[in-house]
Amino acid sequence: MSDIKAAGTFALGGRIVNRLGYGAMQLAGPGVFGPPRDRHSAIAVLREAVESGVNHIDTSDYYGPYVTNRLIREALHPYPDDLVIVTKIGARRGDDASWNPAMSPDDLKSAVQDNLRNLGLDVMEVVNLRIMGSAQGPAEGSVEAPLTVLAELQRQGLVRHIGLSNVTAKQIEEGRRICDIVCVQNMYNVAHREDDALIDDLARSGAAYVPFFPLGGFTPLQSTALNAVADRLGATPMQVALAWLIRRAPNILLIPGTSSLAHLRENLAAAALALPADAVSELDAIAKNSAPA
Ligand SMILES: NC(=O)c1ccc[n+]([C@@H]2O[C@H](COP(=O)([O-])OP(=O)(O)OC[C@H]3O[C@@H](n4cnc5c(N)ncnc54)[C@H](OP(=O)(O)O)[C@@H]3O)[C@@H](O)[C@H]2O)c1
Repeated sequence: MSDIKAAGTFALGGRIVNRLGYGAMQLAGPGVFGPPRDRHSAIAVLREAVESGVNHIDTSDYYGPYVTNRLIREALHPYPDDLVIVTKIGARRGDDASWNPAMSPDDLKSAVQDNLRNLGLDVMEVVNLRIMGSAQGPAEGSVEAPLTVLAELQRQGLVRHIGLSNVTAKQIEEGRRICDIVCVQNMYNVAHREDDALIDDLARSGAAYVPFFPLGGFTPLQSTALNAVADRLGATPMQVALAWLIRRAPNILLIPGTSSLAHLRENLAAAALALPADAVSELDAIAKNSAPA
């Protein structure tokens, strides 16, 4: 079994987690909608992740909806003491599988209650407020109203720590005037590096940066440089993509998603993959080469 501790640990809110974690989104059905294709395999992935040392799982009630949270509960409850389950709120699925903003005070309160019930928890360790933004990613706009609601739920003891997702540096700054922001979850990977400066700022303030789509998301990364480095190191391109993120900054926490046991094992083994300096330079160039002219 792989040693995921080789990637180190980081303080997420009040808890120390291994930097290599797991994202549960891929466990729902096609299009993150409905039940999994293979329920037994989904349960097996969750159990093996935790048995292998994963103690940070990212989820949401809008995966399915409700599907991944109920799978997590079935597979892992009662939870190990060190397991940190992070959810996000701010969206609701339509009957047509659409993703719709759900930001009213009632939406946000019921989302936290629903997550607690479906996961079988009394308090959520970390809740990310997910801003819908634009099709291209984050879009400026005040986060004060919804974040104030979430901060009130924190005061009531339903939520220990708060994070933001799909946000700009300005929105994080605004958020910090309302409550402590322990983590930021934005899209970032070896080929999409718009958040480079933000990651370093968050590292200086002790906040975690949790990239979503670390492997490219629904269309996993494809790059000749990734393939070349992987060949030289006797690794796979996805392991190299994860190893690059581990090396990129100490506050990056990984939540690669998979519904496959073989991919889970492969991803966790990336914790111990050391990248030589020439490989890092080659990988750094991927984003420059894929940036729009
Ligand atoms: N805050 C947000 O807005 C937001 C948005 C998206 C996702 N997330 C979170 O971020 C997590 C990670 O994102 P993600 O799951 O969408 O994308 P990802 O981790 O970048 O990639 C997942 C995709 O890569 C495939 N994959 C995984 N490991 C692989 C391997 N070793 N070799 C080849 N293919 C592999 C998966 O398919 P298989 O199932 O076949 O392995 C899946 O298609 C999610 O699970 C979710 O918790 C958050």
